[in-house]
Amino acid sequence: MPESLKCVVLISGTGTLLQALLDTIDTGGLAATVVAVGADRQAEGITRATSKGIPTFVLPLRKGQDRELWDRDLATAVAQFEPDLVISAGFMKLVGTHFLTQFGGKFINTHPALLPSFPGAHAVRDALEAGVKVTGCTVFAVDEGIDTGPIIAQEAVDVLPHDDEATLHERIKIVERRLLVEVVKNWRKDG
Ligand code: GRF
Repeated sequence: MPESLKCVVLISGTGTLLQALLDTIDTGGLAATVVAVGADRQAEGITRATSKGIPTFVLPLRKGQDRELWDRDLATAVAQFEPDLVISAGFMKLVGTHFLTQFGGKFINTHPALLPSFPGAHAVRDALEAGVKVTGCTVFAVDEGIDTGPIIAQEAVDVLPHDDEATLHERIKIVERRLLVEVVKNWRKDG
């Protein structure tokens, strides 16, 4: 039995990616433990974690607040759980140098487009506006840039003629959940 991988998951939204990880762990399909869930707001994902008895923390980044201080606080909050892997699963904030220095190499993110196409916060909308026929999702290692880190895994999703942002994003997320679970499954602690 492989040793359980200790994961901290960061979220900002509904947390269905988080739920996919938790469900796979529950059914024995993933030798990992979500040791904590963090967010930058009171999100549905926090409620999901609480209902499973997983420790949570919420660190909002308020307008005008010192970003570097927030970044340090985030790193401190994550570090206390001594994770092997930190997963940004729909966490809509960019971390800073301090966080990356501490967790670089073991901090991954998932993005609803085939990077390097359509980086940023509106990937699905941008792909639709560009008229692409195929988009998808990417799991990558986070670096200092906006969605620029080394790509770990990708999968394509067709854009259908009547897709809007919501329908396309929902189909992407179905694939994204599976892809993220696969990457975590294949993650080796020692690189
Ligand atoms: C995912 O598509 C993620 O890539 C994006 O936000 C979505 C998160 O979905 N940044 P959920 O909150 O896990 O349902």
